[in-house]
Amino acid sequence: MTRPAPLTLAAGLTITLALALTGCSPEPSASSGGTPELKVSGAYMPRPVSDLAAGFIVVTNSGGAADKLTSVTSDISDDITIHQTENQKMRQVASFDIPAGGELNLERGGSHIMFANLKQRPEQDQKVKIELHFEKAGPIKVELPVKETTYNPAQH
Ligand code: CU
Repeated sequence: MTRPAPLTLAAGLTITLALALTGCSPEPSASSGGTPELKVSGAYMPRPVSDLAAGFIVVTNSGGAADKLTSVTSDISDDITIHQTENQKMRQVASFDIPAGGELNLERGGSHIMFANLKQRPEQDQKVKIELHFEKAGPIKVELPVKETTYNPAQH
């Protein structure tokens, strides 16, 4: 006849309550729709032929709040501004609106990112790294592939 030995589980066992995992993502309050959700596509830079360059992107906002593109930074230039084109004249603006559920479309002949005093002139097929800064959303890093000087995706 064997009798099961009494089990002393409690001896020295530390119960680690690892359940309380902190530091998760910010509260997913998508239902309230209070934040912009930004995505960048269609980025390119026509190969510059002087120390001026233009950059084009599309920023899509699938969130429930509008945002604004307020500035752009890059190692390639310390003089980057955002421009509107009216009557074939460029004009610097303080920001571009990105409506909730809408998009900001920078395209040739229209609004663009303007790079002045280029530190180096990128060649075709190189990539220019930029960072977009917004009023509400965090900054987004984008690579602009350098296309031929006359490149325009809107023309086919
Ligand atoms: Cu311009």
